[in-house]
Amino acid sequence: MKNKIVLLIVFTFLLASGCYYDSFEALHPLDGYINPCDTTLQSTYTSSIQLIITYNCISCHNATYAGGNVNLTTYDQVKLYSSNGKIPNSILRNSGYNPMPPTQALAACQTQRIQQWITNNYPQ
Ligand code: HEC
Repeated sequence: MKNKIVLLIVFTFLLASGCYYDSFEALHPLDGYINPCDTTLQSTYTSSIQLIITYNCISCHNATYAGGNVNLTTYDQVKLYSSNGKIPNSILRNSGYNPMPPTQALAACQTQRIQQWITNNYPQ
């Protein structure tokens, strides 16, 4: 009986995560367009980072409303919060930083792409 319950929980989780992935795609059509998992695509600010920020962060980090006083509307601002460690630690949900986006982590490819952009010294 216990095993059946565990199996049911695992199955429900798998099912739920499958559905979540579908709705993520539906909610973020541009992510399909920029395809953050395409490794041939350059991790420049204009070709991918800006779009990831626009679709996942800008609603709370713009000139009118900047959560935590963090405005992420320009290259210089995104570079600043990347180089001071706040963006990478927040998107990795490391302790000591506010997890960003607050409710749901970015897709793994998006996180990797931002990290790659930082490693490559913030290409514009
Ligand atoms: C729903 C609104 C919302 C979204 C979406 C959001 N943020 Fe935030 N962010 C906040 C708020 C509010 C704060 C201030 C700290 C707090 O209250 O959690 C904050 C704080 C931050 C900080 C400072 C963190 C620290 O610990 O000093 C960074 C960096 C940040 N956000 C980056 C991002 C990035 C990058 C994204 C997108 C991947 C994002 N945020 C998406 C609301 C949001």
